[in-house]
Amino acid sequence: MMKYAICYVSTAAPEISDSEIEDILKLSSSNNNDDQITGILLFSNGNFFQVLEGDKKTVTILFEKIKEDGRHQNLIPIFKKEIENSKFSRYEEEFLSLDATYDGEKMAYYSSYVEKLDPSIQSPVRYVLKNFS
Ligand SMILES: Cc1cc2nc3c(=O)[nH]c(=O)nc-3n(C[C@H](O)[C@H](O)[C@H](O)COP(=O)(O)O)c2cc1C
Repeated sequence: MMKYAICYVSTAAPEISDSEIEDILKLSSSNNNDDQITGILLFSNGNFFQVLEGDKKTVTILFEKIKEDGRHQNLIPIFKKEIENSKFSRYEEEFLSLDATYDGEKMAYYSSYVEKLDPSIQSPVRYVLKNFS
């Protein structure tokens, strides 16, 4: 069955605290794993990077809700497309701390995800992910 994927970047609201970010990451993970939505949410240096995959209607409704969330702004869609299969086996979330040293193993994992994407969108996604390393 065809699935749908949405990917975007956004900026956290200026007044938001680390614990509020942790709340968003935890809640999205438990909601999405319950709703069979796979993908990833990364937070690093004030920015979010998210991929949502699943049933088209479910993912679209969720994305509309996320867009209205006042805890982030300047949302820039990277792609919205039909996909044959989910690229992620579950929904994962990660707070990449500013001073944490670059984790080669994790970035290799994210890069392996990018390699499975349509060639036309690999380059913008790679560019965005670089800012998360
Ligand atoms: C950057 C960002 C990403 C989010 N991602 C999700 C998500 O993947 N799943 C989710 O359920 N909520 C996510 N949320 C939270 C939703 O905007 C919303 O607050 C949450 O779904 C609770 O909605 P409700 O009060 O209608 O239940 C995200 C919020 C932000 C700021």
